[in-house]
Amino acid sequence: MEQIQPVALGIWIPFSASFRAMATVTLTRHIDAPPLAPELARETSGAPAPAPELTIILPTFNERANLPVIVERVGRSLAGVDWEILVVDDNSPDGTAAAARTLGAHDRRIRCIRRIGRRGLAGACIEGMLASPARYVAVMDADLQHDEALLMAMLEKLRDGATDLVVASRYVGDGAAQGGFSAGRARASQWSTALARRLLKVELTDPMSGFFMIRRELVDAMAQRLSTQGFKILLDIAATGHGQLRVAELPFTFGARLHGESKLDARVALDFGLLLLAKLSDDAISLRFVMFCLVGLTGVAVHMAALYAQHAFAIGDFGIQQGVATCVAIAWNFVFNNAFTYRDQRLTGWHFVKGLIEFELICSVGAISNVGIASLLYGQDSIWWIAGLGGAIMGAVWNYAVSAAVVWRAQ
Ligand code: GDD
Ligand code: MN
Repeated sequence: MEQIQPVALGIWIPFSASFRAMATVTLTRHIDAPPLAPELARETSGAPAPAPELTIILPTFNERANLPVIVERVGRSLAGVDWEILVVDDNSPDGTAAAARTLGAHDRRIRCIRRIGRRGLAGACIEGMLASPARYVAVMDADLQHDEALLMAMLEKLRDGATDLVVASRYVGDGAAQGGFSAGRARASQWSTALARRLLKVELTDPMSGFFMIRRELVDAMAQRLSTQGFKILLDIAATGHGQLRVAELPFTFGARLHGESKLDARVALDFGLLLLAKLSDDAISLRFVMFCLVGLTGVAVHMAALYAQHAFAIGDFGIQQGVATCVAIAWNFVFNNAFTYRDQRLTGWHFVKGLIEFELICSVGAISNVGIASLLYGQDSIWWIAGLGGAIMGAVWNYAVSAAVVWRAQ
């Protein structure tokens, strides 16, 4: 047996004493507490209940009308299975989370995570999967576009033990996508599927599917490498677990939405491109940093336009013109970073104003250090473009790192 060090003991004794003190307090409180209502007492006095076998994650944003329907259908199709439903709602204005709580009040198998100040399908799915205690987790849309009747077949595949990940595919066997898609989106979906398969060597016929079931421990193992931005969670999982996942596909027909409208817009194309880049570089390239630099490039154009306008109208001297153009470009960058780079943590109202001021200050320091570094490098070997690039990179890294820590720090 390992010897206990006297030093360790010295630390341990006061700790254990304080634990005892805490236990006493808890006990006393417990005795003081009023007796439980009979129906609650019945529930809490039972034997420990083991985790369910399957958690179905329903990411939601404004799906209040769909929720009772999908919950009822999932329950019906999984008769005889020990399941739970975990709704991960991004604080939908239509009150989806409250609807989930109401369902949960009658049936404890229906739980809800309500996320505040965050948006994003992939992040919601990851959070749900990591919060599940079950052996298997499924992800499906809450709008009834995914056929819940498939859940049982998916579960049986995993139970067999020869499969790690089961995907409901629109492009295998008699699967189909007609019902749920416009012609334009169907084309875009097929094109991006082909690109992802070729570049990332993902063997799936439908890596864009939002309907799959997986062994939870595998998600736990790869969680650190998954991107919480964007919406291509399955593609991310398949690319991250490349070559190690035993995958099966089942055909399904992508139906039409019941209530409400799709939340995925043109920005998903951008997300998709950035995810490809991140996975191709083996996660060396951060999606956010690339977005931040892209926004910065547009800022350069804005800077030049602002400078030109002041010059044309002969406002102030050059120093003032340059200063004003810099402030305008920083404000532009702030607005676009807030809308795109950090759209999962978007600042609004007073936080927006505060963030803008902080961002102006941080980037001003970045601009000064940019000029300083560039001059230093130029003084060393006088190659203008190396000096200029060095300064710009230093400035960008500073702006990115400090604004991530100060302006958009996760709340
Ligand atoms: N928590 C959370 N946060 N949920 C979200 C968010 C979000 O920001 N955005 C969308 N959702 C939820 C929706 O409420 C819905 O339950 C599900 O995610 C899918 O969103 P839709 O808006 O219905 O997406 P879609 O129908 O256009 O796209 C579906 O089909 C694609 C096929 O190519 C999704 O299943 C995609 O994952 C799938 O790739
Ligand atoms: Mn949908």
